[in-house]
Amino acid sequence: MKDLTTEIVRTEVQDGIGLICLAKPPVNALGVLLRKAIYDAYRRLADDPAVRIIVLYGDGRLFSAGADIKDLAKSDIEPTLPQVLGALHDSEKPVIAALHGAAFGGALELALAAHLRVGVQGLRIALPEVRLGVLPGAGGTQRLPRLTGCAAAIDIICSGREVEAKEALALGIIDRLTDGPPRDAGLAMAKDVLTGKLVPRQTDKLSVAFQPEVFAAAQKRLSGKRPALLAPVKALEAIAASSLPITDGLTKERKLFKDLMQSEERAGLVHAFFAERATGKMPEAAAMPRQINSVAVIGGGTMGVGIATTFLIAGYHVHLIEAQSARVPSARKAVEQNLNGALKRGKLDPDTHQTAFERFTCTDTLDAVANADLVIEAIFEDIAAKTDLFAKLDVICKPGAILATNTSYLDVNLIAAATSRPADVIGLHFFSPAHIMRLLEVVVADATAPDCVATAFLLARKLGKVPVRATVCDGFIGNRILTRYRRAADYLLLDGASFEDIDRALEDFGFAMGPFAVSDLAGLDIAKATRDRKAADRPPEERYSRIADLICESGWYGRKSCRGYYVYDGDEPRQVNPDVTAIVDNERRAIGSEPRQFTNEDIVDRCLTAMIAEAVSVLQEGIALGPVDIDAVELFGYGFPRHRGGPMFQADRIGPATLIARIEAYAHEDPQFWQVPQLLRDIAREGHSFATLNEQRIAMFEKGNKT
Ligand code: 3HC
Repeated sequence: MKDLTTEIVRTEVQDGIGLICLAKPPVNALGVLLRKAIYDAYRRLADDPAVRIIVLYGDGRLFSAGADIKDLAKSDIEPTLPQVLGALHDSEKPVIAALHGAAFGGALELALAAHLRVGVQGLRIALPEVRLGVLPGAGGTQRLPRLTGCAAAIDIICSGREVEAKEALALGIIDRLTDGPPRDAGLAMAKDVLTGKLVPRQTDKLSVAFQPEVFAAAQKRLSGKRPALLAPVKALEAIAASSLPITDGLTKERKLFKDLMQSEERAGLVHAFFAERATGKMPEAAAMPRQINSVAVIGGGTMGVGIATTFLIAGYHVHLIEAQSARVPSARKAVEQNLNGALKRGKLDPDTHQTAFERFTCTDTLDAVANADLVIEAIFEDIAAKTDLFAKLDVICKPGAILATNTSYLDVNLIAAATSRPADVIGLHFFSPAHIMRLLEVVVADATAPDCVATAFLLARKLGKVPVRATVCDGFIGNRILTRYRRAADYLLLDGASFEDIDRALEDFGFAMGPFAVSDLAGLDIAKATRDRKAADRPPEERYSRIADLICESGWYGRKSCRGYYVYDGDEPRQVNPDVTAIVDNERRAIGSEPRQFTNEDIVDRCLTAMIAEAVSVLQEGIALGPVDIDAVELFGYGFPRHRGGPMFQADRIGPATLIARIEAYAHEDPQFWQVPQLLRDIAREGHSFATLNEQRIAMFEKGNKT
C-alpha cells in the first residue's frame, strides 16, 4: 500500500539537523494522517544517531492552520495531537518550530511544545479555538501562560484574536523573528543551538503564578458578554489550571475540550466557519475574472459613500459621482471621515490611508465613468431612475466594463435590458454600512456573463467580503427572508406580545438587536417608504400591521429622531416609548385583537419558523444555490447569531417534521402567511436534511468539478 504519510511530510538530515516539513495543502491541517506522519517522522529522526536536533517547518503559504476542523470529531484517534506534542516536548533531542504565514490553533500548540520557536516576518499566530466553540485542546491553555503569564494568555485564548509576529516576540511566544524561508530560519536557529549560542528549554518546566484578581476580572468580563458563550468561559477555567502540575493541567484541559466538542455552540460555529468559505464554490468559479483597477460609484448617499470607502480601503482607484452638485462636498467628506475612522480602528495602515485620499475623486459629472472598469450604481430605489441611468451608462462606459446595481430588491433583468450589453450587468448588493458589513449578495441576472460573476466573487474576497450568489427575485435572498421575519414579529405584536419582549427574546437567542430595535436604527421612515411603494402589490388577504405607520405619522423615525419604539437619550440604554405602547393598545382594540401571552420560546419559535419557511421557498425557487448560502447571508448580513449557525442549520436542529407541525398549527390563525413549502415536505418525507443538500451543493461546485 502507498505510504501517504511520506507524501504529506518530508524529512531530511543536514549537518546533524533533522528537518520535518509539513506538506499537506492547502493549510497543513493537523488531521489524523498528518499527526501520524509527523509522529513517525519524529520517531525516525529521534532514533537516527546522525541527528542531534530537529526542526519542524511548513511547506506552502503558512506553517499550519491547526487541527483539521472537518476532523475534530476524530481528535481521539491515536496518535492524538496531545500525544504527538507530548513526544516532541519530552524529546531528548531539542526540537525547533520554524513558523511562517500562520500558526493557528493546534499548530501553535505544536510550536509551544517545541523547545524554541523562530518566526518569519509576516507571521500571525492565534489560538482561535473559542471562535469554533472549543478551547485549545493540545496544551495551549497550559503552555501559553507558562511563556506569557496569565493575563496575556487569557487575552489571547479567550478572544481567539490574531497576534502579529512583533507582539508574539515581545510576549515571548516566539524566541526570534527573522526574514527568509522558514527552512533557512529553522536551520540557522538549530546551528545556534548546536554551537551553544542558544539554549533550548522545555515549556512544561516553567511555572505560572496564579493571579486571582486577573481571573476574577476576566470572569466578570466574559460572563457579561452577549451572547454569553460557553467556550471562552471554559477556556478561562482551563487557563486557571495552568498553575497546577502540568499533567493535571493538561488532563483538565482535555476534559473541558471534549465537553465542548458536544456543545450546540461548537456545531453552530464550525458550520459558520465553513459557510463563509462554501459560498465561493459556485458555477462560474472557473471563469477568468476581468481586470478591475478603477471603480466608479454613482450616488453619494449612505450606500454610495460606504461602497466607495470599501473599495478605497482595498486599494482601488475610486470615483464617486453625486449628481446633485450641492451634495458633492458632503459626500466627499463622508468618505474621508470613513477612511479616518478605518485608520483609527486599525483597519487601514497609515500608508494606505494616505494613498486612499490620492486614489479618490468625487464630482457631479456622469462622464467620469467612461474609464472605469467597474461602475456601481447606488442611487435611490426607483426602477425608472435606474433603467434611465443604465441606458446612459451603456453609451458612456467603455466596452467590457462591468455595470453593477446595488439595488436591494428591484429586477436586475429589467435594469440589464435598458442596456445593449446585459451580459455585463450584475447586481452587487452591499449592506449598510458597506465598508463594515461583510455580506455581498451577487445577483446574477438571466444574461449575466460567467466572467462577470467570477469577477464579482474575486472582488468580494479582495474587499474582505463574503460573496453569496443569488438570482433575481424581489428582495433576493436576504431581504425576502427579512420581510417574513419582520412580519412574524409584527403579528406577534398585534396578537399580544410587547415589542420589548419580542426584542428581548430574540436578543437572548443571540441577535445583537431585536427586530424593533433594528427598525429604530434603520429609520422607520425608510421602511415606511418601501411599504408605501409596494402597497399596490400587497394581496388584499394579507394581514397588515399599521403600527409602524402610526409611529411614523407621530413624527418618530427611530434613533435619528431620538424616538421610535424606544426613547434614546444620549448613551443611556434604550427605554420603551410609552406612546408607542399606547399606539399598540389602540391598534389591537381597533382590529379587535384579544391580546394573548407569548413565552420567549413562542416568540423565537415563530420568528425563526417564519424565517426558515421563507428560506426554504428561496431555495426551492433556485434563488440560492444551497442552504449554506442562505446561512451565510443571514450570518454575515443580518446579524443572525454565529453560534446558531444560520436558519437552515437551525432547521436541521429543529427537524423538518417539527417545523411542518408548527407551520400547520400557526396556519389556523393565518393561512395566508403560514404555508409549508413543498421542499420542506419532500425533505421530511425522504428523511433528508439541509446538511445533505449542502453536501451535494458543495460537491457539485467543488474545485476541479466545476460546471
Ligand atoms: N481545518 C480544515 N480545513 C481548513 C482549516 C482547518 N484548520 N483551515 C482552513 N481550512 C480550509 C478552508 O476551509 C479552505 O478550504 P476550501 O478551499 O475547501 O474552502 C482552505 O483550507 C483554505 O482556507 P481559507 O480560505 O480560510 O484560506 P486563508 O488563506 O484565507 O486563511 C487561515 C488561512 C488563516 C489559516 C484560515 O483558514 C483559518 O483561520 N483557519 C482556521 C484556523 C483555526 O481555527 N484553527 C484552529 C483549529 S481547531 C484546533 O486546532 C483544535 C486544537 O486545539 C486541538
